[in-house]
Amino acid sequence: MYRSNTCGDLRTSHINKEVVLSGWVHKVRDKGFVIWIDLRDRYGITQLVLDQDRTSTELLEKVKELGRETVIQIKGLVIERASKNPNIPTGDIEVLVTELQILNESILPPFTIEDNTDGGEDIRMKYRYLDIRRNPVKDNLIFRHKVSMEVRKYLSDHGFIEVETPYLIKSTPEGARDFIVPSRMNEGQFYALPQSPQTFKQLLMVGGMDKYFQIVKCFRDEDLRADRQPEFTQIDCEMAFVEQEDILNAFEGLTKHLLKEVHGIDSQDFPRMTYDDAMRLYGNDKPDIRFGMEFGELNTVAQHKDFNVFNSAELVVGIAVPGGASYTRKEIDKLIDWVRRPQVGAKGMVYVKCNEDGTYKSSVDKFYDQEDLAKWAEVTKAKTGDLICVLSGNTNETRAQLSALRMELAERLGLRKPDEFAPLWVVDFPLLELDEETGHYHAMHHPFTSPKPGQLELLETNPGEVKANAYDLVLNGNEIGGGSIRIHDKEIQATMFKHLGFTQEQAKAQFGFLMDAFQYGAPPHGGIAFGLDRLVAILGGQETIRDFIAFPKNNSGRDVMIDAPATIDDEQLKELRLKLDL
Ligand code: AMO
Repeated sequence: MYRSNTCGDLRTSHINKEVVLSGWVHKVRDKGFVIWIDLRDRYGITQLVLDQDRTSTELLEKVKELGRETVIQIKGLVIERASKNPNIPTGDIEVLVTELQILNESILPPFTIEDNTDGGEDIRMKYRYLDIRRNPVKDNLIFRHKVSMEVRKYLSDHGFIEVETPYLIKSTPEGARDFIVPSRMNEGQFYALPQSPQTFKQLLMVGGMDKYFQIVKCFRDEDLRADRQPEFTQIDCEMAFVEQEDILNAFEGLTKHLLKEVHGIDSQDFPRMTYDDAMRLYGNDKPDIRFGMEFGELNTVAQHKDFNVFNSAELVVGIAVPGGASYTRKEIDKLIDWVRRPQVGAKGMVYVKCNEDGTYKSSVDKFYDQEDLAKWAEVTKAKTGDLICVLSGNTNETRAQLSALRMELAERLGLRKPDEFAPLWVVDFPLLELDEETGHYHAMHHPFTSPKPGQLELLETNPGEVKANAYDLVLNGNEIGGGSIRIHDKEIQATMFKHLGFTQEQAKAQFGFLMDAFQYGAPPHGGIAFGLDRLVAILGGQETIRDFIAFPKNNSGRDVMIDAPATIDDEQLKELRLKLDL
């Protein structure tokens, strides 16, 4: 028997019990006459003690040799600690060691296995198995497990069946590039790894599965960010015989359940906002509504004077920064530099200080009087003591810039509280999105999303205006889920493909299987997929999903621990017909 208890188990109730523990040597404190060892495992740390009075010299000598991270097994007696440690659950006791066995030595780890480690990100990723021994990473993985289990339990209790779908498939368009796998048995042919199980879950609906879910890996070859990994996990769901309202209710239920189970929060019904409102009020389709600072559009109150910058702009829009009137000239200049950084891209920023005495002081006093500025304050809901920041230009760009500024200021002002949760449904997304470069429309969600009832005709005349039965679930400014009601009619699906620029042949070659299936009584259906990594990170009060993935990739898509991707040898290339002239 390697252990009778774990290193997190023992309490005063165990005093005088003989125990066997196994774990890693976390720390050794050698005071000469007495030696303490912190023994660590997944469950916690238990203090071991050996001293000159009660321990044999032989054993004391053995212990002096123990290096950090050595794996040991001990036998000993649980005793009360003289000086207790209230910071750890086992802090009232220690174990007087009577026997000790080294199970495995460890060479010196490249960083200390402590909550606050001296190891930088790169080195911790290279030795991720050591990083996982640290509480912050270990706790995140346990937290993820807990969320996954709650998801499974909830969905299963609500009649959903988990069905696995294949990984070696044909391209499923979700807007990213595919990862491709060559087929040895089918010369010159390739599988694509799924960007999502989208088409399969729809086929499961045709197959009558009715309520499907799957916690599933998805693969997308796209540029990486803190909230994106090339392989990530979805809670993928689909239901038959449903309308948008049914899906929103079902998955609001799941999200409420998670907030309750994980944080003990009883949620109100989630607010809903149209895509158009989200863009108008927050410049963003995933607004963080934990705080206000809503946009105020100022065109009508700012475009009547001789200020040409505003007069020539498509949009003049501002936000009120709480308490910002006290910013110094230098601080405001820094803010202006911030919006002018290439990553944000604004040309400049106009500001108005709403002074405590009720007067206004702006950077454009030459053009606007107090009465004008009072109107700006009204539109942006600025109070005395606030600073109004105003950007102008092309609508889409200006909104994106002001949204970036809003988030940055909220971060600086501590308004993005990690323990506060503000879910929001964003609904009525446009069906299509214009690609500025090519001038072509592509599906904003994916090509299987249905237009809102009665909008099909608009596809011919004004495709950009067509709204979709598509929705996103936003949590604290992050898109944690997205879905839609699907097209289940073969003809409408064919029309959609046509508008997306597919010829009939291309549509048949790529999605013939789906269109064929739709001929055999496809039920009305729809669904949603949550990004599990994102959901877990945000529920855990963070935004970097890497910290919640056991073995993540770095920003170049590399696994630095196993050193992948890697070249393969010529023989293998030849076998796969990727290199012929050997
Ligand atoms: P969508 O493309 O919106 O929808 O993806 C669903 C959710 O997956 C998460 N996500 C990611 N998480 C980490 N890294 C990535 N690279 C990444 N890409 C997406 C997001 C997102 O909201 N088949 C549809 C769903 C449907 O229509 O039912 C789909 O995949 O949290």
